[in-house]
Parts: sequence; structure tokens; C-alpha cells
Amino acid sequence: MARYGPAEVEALRQQAESDPDGFWLDLAKRLDWYRPPTKAGDWSYNEDDFHIEWYADGQLNLSVNCLDRQLDARGDKVALIFEADEPGTGRSLTYREIYEETCRFANLLKSYDIGRGDRVMIYMPMIPEAAAAMLACARIGAVHSVCFGGFSPESLAGRISDCDACAVITADEGVRGGKIIPLKLNVDEALKESPVPTCIVVTRTGNDVPMTEGRDVLYSAVREALSTECEPEVMNAEDPLFILYTSGSTGKPKGVVHTTGGYAVWAATTFDWIFQPQASDIFWCTADVGWITGHTYVVYGPLMNGATSIMFDGVPNYPDFGRFWETVDRLGVTIFYTAPTAIRALEREGDDWVTRYSRESIRLLGTVGEPINPDAWEWYWRVVGGGRVPIVDTWWQTETGAALISPLPGSTPMKPGSATQPLPGIHAILVDEHGKELEGAVSGNLCLTTSWPGQMRTVWGDHKRFFDTYFTTYRGRYFTGDGCRRDEDGYYWITGRVDDVINVSGHRVGSAEVESSLVSHPLVAEAAVVGYPHDIKGSAVYAFVTLNAGEEGTDAVRQELIKEVRHDIGGLAAPEKIHFTPALPKTRSGKIMRRILRKIAEGATDGFGDTSTLADPSVVDALLAGRQ
Ligand code: WTA
Repeated sequence: MARYGPAEVEALRQQAESDPDGFWLDLAKRLDWYRPPTKAGDWSYNEDDFHIEWYADGQLNLSVNCLDRQLDARGDKVALIFEADEPGTGRSLTYREIYEETCRFANLLKSYDIGRGDRVMIYMPMIPEAAAAMLACARIGAVHSVCFGGFSPESLAGRISDCDACAVITADEGVRGGKIIPLKLNVDEALKESPVPTCIVVTRTGNDVPMTEGRDVLYSAVREALSTECEPEVMNAEDPLFILYTSGSTGKPKGVVHTTGGYAVWAATTFDWIFQPQASDIFWCTADVGWITGHTYVVYGPLMNGATSIMFDGVPNYPDFGRFWETVDRLGVTIFYTAPTAIRALEREGDDWVTRYSRESIRLLGTVGEPINPDAWEWYWRVVGGGRVPIVDTWWQTETGAALISPLPGSTPMKPGSATQPLPGIHAILVDEHGKELEGAVSGNLCLTTSWPGQMRTVWGDHKRFFDTYFTTYRGRYFTGDGCRRDEDGYYWITGRVDDVINVSGHRVGSAEVESSLVSHPLVAEAAVVGYPHDIKGSAVYAFVTLNAGEEGTDAVRQELIKEVRHDIGGLAAPEKIHFTPALPKTRSGKIMRRILRKIAEGATDGFGDTSTLADPSVVDALLAGRQ
């Protein structure tokens, strides 16, 4: 039975409109507060008065809400199931066990004098200690910043220095798809560039890794001596909880800052609304904690709701393409939440990988991270779900903390490919390029007109960048960067990014970052990077590169450039295509006309629109001739 049937959802929507403060304060009641908030949101998106605060006079601790408050009712219930790369070699931790592990970690951090407001970088595989490390930071008031293990040492170093981290928590090695990921070696590389006084190393494979005397500590060597109790810090609602770096249209990745109270309320609420957990559910969100989805729907959302959450440290095609469904059967997964890119990749391998497993335990499916094409949706629904379970297509962003547009199963009728409607309390609009609000069934740019508790509060160290990035394109509104269509039933269909962010397999890659990596190569004079449609990845990276005079664009150079991007950013940003060109299409004022590059990357041979403003219109012909 859905706890939020049509009547309940309607009541929530009505309260959100008629009594917004009461609505938001009621949502906060699902948490334990040292001092319950008496104020809901206080915000303005206008430049002269720009500020965003939620529950400002409340005090709480998020690790207490995830752990301590669960101990009485469900101390022996499994909180986290670690599903290792090699099927069947994982382990489970009860709420009491993860509580104790968190306290040990917290005490270790405290022994290095790490506390309120200090930044701690986490660079780990999907092992329970990663969750414990995050929760330990929350417990002592330190601000965690998780860096996805697939990012290069260079990227890690950039993040460490941007947030001035005082410690790194890592593991000796990771294992994914049967391959070793040299996490500690990567950290060593990064620390050469951005040193920190303390590096905590958790054992995952147990292989020998170099340890630096005085800086590195092996967690397993000190663990037993650490107390399993640790007094939590009383945090203010607006104290920062974490920084998560994400790519934008321009410059280096920005540190998206989320604060404690609002994030907690919105993560807990949306997990409950969208997944409607029951005591016996086994919830599997396949995301990594290096992304916002892992923060909100692997760790914080499920634990605040007392659910059992799976931490998956593998990949969908190892040991074979049946991995997801074999695991679903073995662990009795009831709710399964993944990215469209994984669905498309598995669909291509044929139904047999799915249908050989029962999948009987599944009662709800979900997707996140990119638009799902109706064809993949149908396959997910018919083959994976056997046509008997709902799908929740959840739209949100690192910046939004948790989902904003999503069906509520049992009350929102689904449409394949649509994230359906904004959640109660969320006000989405579509605007044209001048910022004029569009009514009815129409396409436009997706904006939010009012704040919500899980909204990011600032860009770490650059509050002006926060305002400029999100609130200046359309004055007085939060601009998401997404294009969207609304149909005659008021359903929202996200069409994808309209800025220079490329969504590769559900992960954000900034064109500017890839460009700056390419031009740092000595052979490269200029580069412009755009996204183009890709069957499996959704979008992929297409790089136009002009080499220095006299250099030849050979395959060897291509390989070198790909290596450069892998080194500077990480594998996920590596260009799928590199197109050498003698020149880039530019206006007379020197601005690159990306519109034309996008068209060429999509495979168009004409229809480039007005090219009369190009400084040299013949560039287009040269580009067409040089296509791979
Ligand atoms: C895209 C991931 C269509 C969108 C949670 C957004 C989606 C970006 C959906 C944020 C969805 C996310 N349908 N597009 N259900 N969910 N997106 O910050 O373009 O990694 O702006 O957060 O992913 O990506 P991010």
C-alpha cells in the first residue's frame, strides 16, 4: 500500500501552496533536532538581497539522525550491504556496527585535531568505510568532500587545494570489473602537488602500498584501539555538511556546498516520498558515493529512513551482463535505482541476461542522471520489471541536493521518458531566451522560482560565482541549465543540457575543462569541445583540435591527446572523437561558434544557419572535409 496515495499527495500540494512555512516546518519534524527550527526558508534570488537559508535557528547532527536514533528500534537491522566487485564476497553491517565504525573514524579524525569546519577529502571505493568516513565527518562537524575514485590524481589535487583539505581518507586499492585501481598511489601523486598533514588508508585489497612516515596511517592498525563511542557535535542547520565538486559551463569544477539542516530534511523527505520504504525493503541505488546520487540515495536518505542500502563496488558487466539481476535475486532487492546509460548498455546485450533471473523481489524501479529515451524506458519496464512495477524517473542535480521532479509511485500516472511533475513545494517554470515565462504545452529553459531546503548554498570560496552561474541568466530565478518540454498534462520532459556541460553516461563533463586540458598539450594551438548524441552514453565528447603549424594530426597524436585528458581529468572526460581542423569557426570578434560545431559533431552536412558573421566562412567546408 502506497503511503502517499493520490489523496495524501494532493493534501501535501495544497498545504505547500496555502501554508508554505507550515509545510516546510512539518517536513523538518521527521528529523531529531537538539533545537527544532521555528523558521522555515528565508531567501531571495535578487542581487541586492541575495541569500538562502533554511531552518536557520535549528540545531542537529546528521550522523545522529542516520545512526543513533535508529539504534533502539533497529540496532540489529542491516544498514549497509557491501556488494563487492566479485559476486558474493561482500559483507553487511547492522545499524549498530556502522554506528560503531563511524564513531571509531570520528575519534581517529579528532585525534588529529580535526573538527568543526575542517575539510576532509574522501577518495575511496564503495566500501562501508566510505560511508563511515562521511558520517564521521558529519558527527564531528568536519566538512567532507568525496572525490570519485575514477578521477585522476591531478583532479584530486585540484580539489584538495581548492577546499584546503587537512586530511585525505583513502583505501590501499580499489577493485572494479576485476581490475585494480591504485587509489593510494593516486593519492601520493596528488599530495606531491597539494600536500596535507594526514592521510588515512583503509584496507581493501591488502596489497602493499607505500606509506609515508608521519603522514600516512593505516586504519586497520589503529582501529581496535579507537573507542566505539563519540559525542556528536551540535551543528547549526546552516553549517556546511559537504562540498561536492561538479563541472559547469566555464572554468574549473566548482565546489557545490550543501548545509546540514536543509539538505537532511530534503534528502530524508524525498527518499520517503519517492521510494516509500517499508521495513523489509532492500534498496539498491547503483551510484557511487563520488556523485550526489551516492550521497543522497546510497548513504544519507536511506539511513535517515532506517532502510537497508546496498553499496555496490562493481560494474554492470562484470563478471557478465547478468550481474545486476543475479545480485537482485541473491540479495532480494526490492527497489532498484540506476542510470539510463546502464539500462541502454544492458538492453543491447539482449533480454536473456535479464530473464534468466527471477527479479521477483523487485517492487519499484527508478532512473536518474539523464533523460531516458522512451525505448529504453519500455525495455526497463517490460523486461526488467516484467510489466508489473512502476518506474520513478527522478530529475535533479548536484545543486538541488535531492530530487525535485519525479513521480510518486501509486499516485502519479507514468509516461515513458517523462520525469512527470514537480514534487510538492517545488515551483518549476519554463522560460524563453529572454526570460519570459511560457505557459501551457511548450518547450523552454527550466527554472525554479522558489527555494527548497536542499538547494546548494554557495560555491566553495566563490560566492559571486554561485550567484553569477545560477541567478543571472534569468534574473530572480534559479536556472538549471536544462532544456525541457511541458506537455498538455503539465508533465515535464527534460531534453538535456542547454549550456556547455556534456552529460556523458550520466556524469557531467565541462567542455571548458576538456578544452583547457587539450590546449595544455604542447602540440595543440586551439581546441573546442562539444557533446554529440551517443547510443549508450547519451552524449559523448567531440573535440575539434587545431594543432600548431606544421604538426600533423595522426592517430598517434590522437592517442596522446586522449591520454592528456585522462591524466588531467579522468577517463570519463576522454574525447570519443578528435577532429583535427586547420581552424575553428569564429565570429569577427573571435568568439567560437559552437552552434556550428555541434551540428558538425551531430553529423549534419548542411543547415548551419546564418554563417555570414563568421570571420572566414570557408572554415565550415574545411571542417566538413576533415570529418572522421
Ligand atoms: C541531468 C545527477 C533527465 C540533467 C542527479 C541535470 C536528468 C544533470 C535527470 C545533473 C532525469 C539528471 N532526466 N535529465 N531524470 N536527472 N539529469 O549534477 O541534465 O550529476 O542538469 O546530478 O543531469 O547532473 P548531476
